[in-house]
Amino acid sequence: MSEPSFDGNEAAYLKECLDSGYVSSVGAFVDRFEREFAAWVGSPYAVACASGTAALHVALRVAGAGVGRLVAVSDFTFIASANAVSYTGATVLLVDSEPRTWNMDTELLRDHVIRQAARGARIPDLVEVVHVLGHPADIEPLLELRNRFGIRIVEDAAEALGATWYRGMPAGKSAGTVGDLGCYSFNGNKIITTGAGGMITTGDPDLAARARHLTTQAKVPASSYVHDEVGYNYRLSNLSAGLGVAQLEQLDERIRLKRAIARRYAEQLGELPLRLPPHCEWADPTYWLYSVLLDAEAPDTVVARLASVDVEARTVWRPIHRQPPYAYTPRLRGSVADSLHQRGLSLPSSVQLTPEQQRRVSTELASALADNG
Ligand SMILES: Cc1ncc(COP(=O)(O)O)c(C=O)c1O
Repeated sequence: MSEPSFDGNEAAYLKECLDSGYVSSVGAFVDRFEREFAAWVGSPYAVACASGTAALHVALRVAGAGVGRLVAVSDFTFIASANAVSYTGATVLLVDSEPRTWNMDTELLRDHVIRQAARGARIPDLVEVVHVLGHPADIEPLLELRNRFGIRIVEDAAEALGATWYRGMPAGKSAGTVGDLGCYSFNGNKIITTGAGGMITTGDPDLAARARHLTTQAKVPASSYVHDEVGYNYRLSNLSAGLGVAQLEQLDERIRLKRAIARRYAEQLGELPLRLPPHCEWADPTYWLYSVLLDAEAPDTVVARLASVDVEARTVWRPIHRQPPYAYTPRLRGSVADSLHQRGLSLPSSVQLTPEQQRRVSTELASALADNG
């Protein structure tokens, strides 16, 4: 679906780490990866973490999530987005998707908050908005909530590194750099990988310092084993950061390749009984996983049919409210997330996918759908 590729300086930088003896969470590559990543996304500060989930956990904590707090989270996402909130002890409020982007229906949340505030009822303390599958969410209603009610924004940009907005307040910005903090994942299936890894970005030096502090066991600098709060062993290793620096050098080219794959799929699948992925005129998505909505509710059958001819495809997530740990979680209702799950299908999207392989995927999908319908 989205295979890693190591075509650049990965081996050379790993060897440099081994030769230097700096293989753990301190080393030149960690600093360099943070610096170069921050510059690439256009954020003043970046803090490398052991995973995207760790990045979310720490970002949420420094943004104020904790026991007694309410955090609004996208319902249609990978479970890590919600789990990171639960780790802090905060209560999750799930928000349905909107059909234009498949992301959080930020207008639904805005209207809810305004109504709640008007009658003196509880409003979320924070919002964690996820930019799923490489398309940025409509973030402006959240910026309005931040201005009016002080609701802080954590962006889960794990799947949307390099996606941008064209219009409005976030125009020209990169996903993950508009809210108070942004989080990214470098898991093996992401557009760049460090094996396992993540990053927090922020424009606020105090939030960056506190995030760094929490990722390093909250050890007071220059002290001998004084830890002033409960922290975590969440730093990225120098080895992983070496991979990250090499991968970052290839990021522009990978985004170009993902967009070229999307253009070809759009040409090849346009006549089939399905809807192509979201592409709002105000956004420049990266198509991390190219995903379509079938007209018929039968993605499982299509996945099995494609597997029988050696084409890997996948259904999209079951919404968080359908996961056992979140079965009784409060949510702003709607049926969009459920309908995405019932009809969504992700197609092979690796940057190594050749035009010939992609043509075969499209042909096999066409015959699977013909059999189905
Ligand atoms: C939307 C989203 N959030 C969070 C994560 C968690 O990242 P990681 O696997 O690096 O912990 C992932 C992916 O794995 C993801 O897709």
